Amino acid sequence: MSETENKKIIFSGIQPTGTFTLGNYIGAVSHWGKLQEDYNCIYSIVDMHAITVRQEPAKLRQNTLEAYALILACGVDPEKSIAFIQSHVKTHAELNWILACSTQFGELSRMTQFKDKSAKHPDDVNAGLFTYPVLMAADILAYKTDLVPVGADQKQHLELARNIAQRFNSKYGELFTVPEPYIPKTGAKVMSLQDPTKKMSKSDENPNACIYILDEPDVIMRKFKRAVTDSEACVRYAEGKDGINNLMSIYSVVTGKDYAEIEREFDGKGYGDFKAAVGEAVSDHLKPVRENFARYMADKAYLKECYTKGAEMALRISQKTISKAYRKVGFVDRT
Ligand code: TRP
Repeated sequence: MSETENKKIIFSGIQPTGTFTLGNYIGAVSHWGKLQEDYNCIYSIVDMHAITVRQEPAKLRQNTLEAYALILACGVDPEKSIAFIQSHVKTHAELNWILACSTQFGELSRMTQFKDKSAKHPDDVNAGLFTYPVLMAADILAYKTDLVPVGADQKQHLELARNIAQRFNSKYGELFTVPEPYIPKTGAKVMSLQDPTKKMSKSDENPNACIYILDEPDVIMRKFKRAVTDSEACVRYAEGKDGINNLMSIYSVVTGKDYAEIEREFDGKGYGDFKAAVGEAVSDHLKPVRENFARYMADKAYLKECYTKGAEMALRISQKTISKAYRKVGFVDRT
């Protein structure tokens, strides 16, 4: 990525919590590669956010490397974008502190994700979980980010990042760019295959509810064949047909066909045929991702070269922001 090119800046982060789901892929990561043509993109594996819930250290390390390999496998090109591991770039933690002092306790208390997560882990309601959105604001604001691709669950955090930026700017003078959400044109929300009124999630107890992007073809086929549908036995997009709507939406994304075309294709055919077709299309679509991932994981030296370079570039850009922020709040110059 060239810092001089006059393109808007996009920042996005993903947590290294095991392999990505088809939902993470369709909703987020599959867009990351395409965005690099039109924007200066900065992508981070946010391992510091991950430790707000209990992690097994060896597993976190492995998951972080895998997540990094996965974003490359999904099309992030480290020559075009900046791709790095959050903990490698110290400015995130430094800016986190500065921004924490411009964030109100009350604001953080209203974050629905904090309320949900603290209810889920009542024995570990740590301060990091509470200030999680401040670190996310630091990720975004450190790079003068214009646009942040976010799903519905992160909208409130982005709104908070905007408020923090505005508050800092009005207290200390203009520094931070106030980021806007970036809503991709395509990429509907992917629902659970077992309860299509709920979002597809790794934490679903039913193993058939969720497709992982590294699932083998036979596993993908089996999960789609067991997908919950209605009893009408007619492939059409309609209110109340959540299961079929979800499958149609997935099929549409991976094949590029619109709903009318899909309805024609399966006219007179049963759900069995349709589910098999969706399974096959998804499996074919993910084949290059699986292959690229295996290739990257077999070449740790290359991965290291990429994330080291990414961290250096990220540090260089964010260091400028942190130096300005330090000066604005009144810290004595170090140099
Ligand atoms: N909180 C985001 C999530 O769980 C991950 C994230 C961390 C992020 N920092 C970010 C996303 C900055 C966008 C921008 O999905």
